[in-house]
Amino acid sequence: MPHMLITILGTTKPNANRFALDFKRGNDVAFHFNPRFNEDNKRVIVCNTKLDNLWGKEERQATFPFESGKPFKVQGLVESDHFKVAVNDAHLLQYNHRMKNLQEISKLGISGDIDLTSASHVMI
Ligand code: GAL
Repeated sequence: MPHMLITILGTTKPNANRFALDFKRGNDVAFHFNPRFNEDNKRVIVCNTKLDNLWGKEERQATFPFESGKPFKVQGLVESDHFKVAVNDAHLLQYNHRMKNLQEISKLGISGDIDLTSASHVMI
């Protein structure tokens, strides 16, 4: 819901290929945040939404603040029109809400090539 700030602390694996944060409503993914460390020798963050098992149109961000084998902090702030994401205290991107029932997005999936330190949320 708006004003919720979610903070994920972790460390990427030494030879990380990809990881993902998935903000979910049941099986649907409202917001997929997916850093890819080597997609055709480029580093890119892919964001998308999955509805009824179908991915939508990707939004890609070439600014890539992650490094293999290093600790990171991702902060996701829910605002009325978008998710706002900062990494290591620097703004990274915004992702407009495609799924409108924000209150029903109740799960966070964390997967891929990281060691998770913590995940927490707070209302601000
Ligand atoms: C697919 C990939 C999924 C997800 C999706 C995002 O190619 O298999 O895991 O990242 O892209 O658009």
